[in-house]
Amino acid sequence: MATYPIRVFGDPVLKRPTREVVDIDGTFVRLVDSMFTTMYDAPGVGLAAPQVGVQQRFFVYDIGDDPKVLINPKIVEQTGEWSYEEGCLSIPGVTIEIVRPKLVTVEALDLDGNEVTVEGDELLGRVFLHEIDHLDGVLMFDRVEGDARKAAMREWRARELAGPTSRDRDHAL
Ligand code: NI
Repeated sequence: MATYPIRVFGDPVLKRPTREVVDIDGTFVRLVDSMFTTMYDAPGVGLAAPQVGVQQRFFVYDIGDDPKVLINPKIVEQTGEWSYEEGCLSIPGVTIEIVRPKLVTVEALDLDGNEVTVEGDELLGRVFLHEIDHLDGVLMFDRVEGDARKAAMREWRARELAGPTSRDRDHAL
């Protein structure tokens, strides 16, 4: 199965919003398969279509037990607060502590075109919020302000100069 190069910060495709998926056909299913391969290869636990240069509204994820694709996802409920040190496959080597809702409910289509409602708590909820941000052209840097944002940008520039290491994408989203 083919893998895609993962687009990194600075690539304009990461800042563009996506279009809804219209046809879940054979071509689309192969695209999804290749995204799973790309995500496992990275290795990451979530991957949104813009991260491989595809302007469509879907993402794949697997936090260890249940690989899934969510198509045209919508957040329908989010409650609580949870702080987590996020990493992003498109910003390798940088982690940022971000506070977001803890429990997240998403409505989407599955690969058979059926409507599904999925609930994610803590890490899974974080995957949903991070990947849906990607679908809206929003990156981790946009979720922090002031000194935290400056520190994250500094970390990114230092990492760019130093070059990537093999662990940079471990468990990233
Ligand atoms: Ni990401």
